[in-house]
Amino acid sequence: MSSHNTAHRLTLTDFARFYQSGEKIVMLTCYDASFAAIMDAAGVEMLLVGDSLGNVVQGEDSTLPVTLEQMAYHVAAVKRGSSRAMIVSDMPFGTSQLGPEDTFRNAAKLMAAGAQMVKLEGGTEMAKTVEFLVIRGIPVCGHIGLTPQSVHQLGGFRVQGKDESGAEKLSADAKSLAEAGASMIVLEAMPGALSSRITSEISVPAIGIGAGANVSGQVLVVYDMLDISTGKKPRFVKNYMTITGSVQAAIAAYVREVKAGIFPAAEHTY
Ligand code: KIV
Repeated sequence: MSSHNTAHRLTLTDFARFYQSGEKIVMLTCYDASFAAIMDAAGVEMLLVGDSLGNVVQGEDSTLPVTLEQMAYHVAAVKRGSSRAMIVSDMPFGTSQLGPEDTFRNAAKLMAAGAQMVKLEGGTEMAKTVEFLVIRGIPVCGHIGLTPQSVHQLGGFRVQGKDESGAEKLSADAKSLAEAGASMIVLEAMPGALSSRITSEISVPAIGIGAGANVSGQVLVVYDMLDISTGKKPRFVKNYMTITGSVQAAIAAYVREVKAGIFPAAEHTY
């Protein structure tokens, strides 16, 4: 059965089914009710209220200034605009790093605002926190590779896991997060061979952004794929606006291409 026939708001059970059947999962970032309605109608299955809103909505040069209250505001708007897609909220910088209890308190505010899952950046060092949240009822999406909240530690927005030790670390990070109970893991900006390996090593969906095609699903920053964001786009972004001519058609084309395994192509892969 196609995922588009599902009337209720999608849940982890639906994503487990997509994953088991090998159906690609389609995620896009979303920050407001109008875009949420368009994405819902187009069949986007997961709306990620990303802290990338710091860059593309607030005009900051990183995600670091975004606050928990701002995230909750955008989550509530996305919830009001959608009825089918699962809503995932980023935990902004400083809200998931101080240990399990503090992270739970912050995540609870995002869940109360309408999120069904929180996403937090980091690998093995976050495993205890992930476990703490999951056993208390908060689904968690991990995020490894290029983690924008660590941009200053990483020395810029760079592809990760290019050498052997980096690749081994990311592989170990993914396994720790999955073992701790993460429901899915975003893999950002890494060689396609590495994301493919990680995808085969874990038993939860791996959602790629700049991680090649051999993963369980894809996510992009919506302003990038609509060519609204300013500045140089990363190699992994495909401009769907130019090839379709409307927001609705661009998002529908993205859904079709992810489902069919057409996006990302080799030219979008490291
Ligand atoms: O904040 C965001 O948009 C993200 C994606 C890049 C995955 O975390």
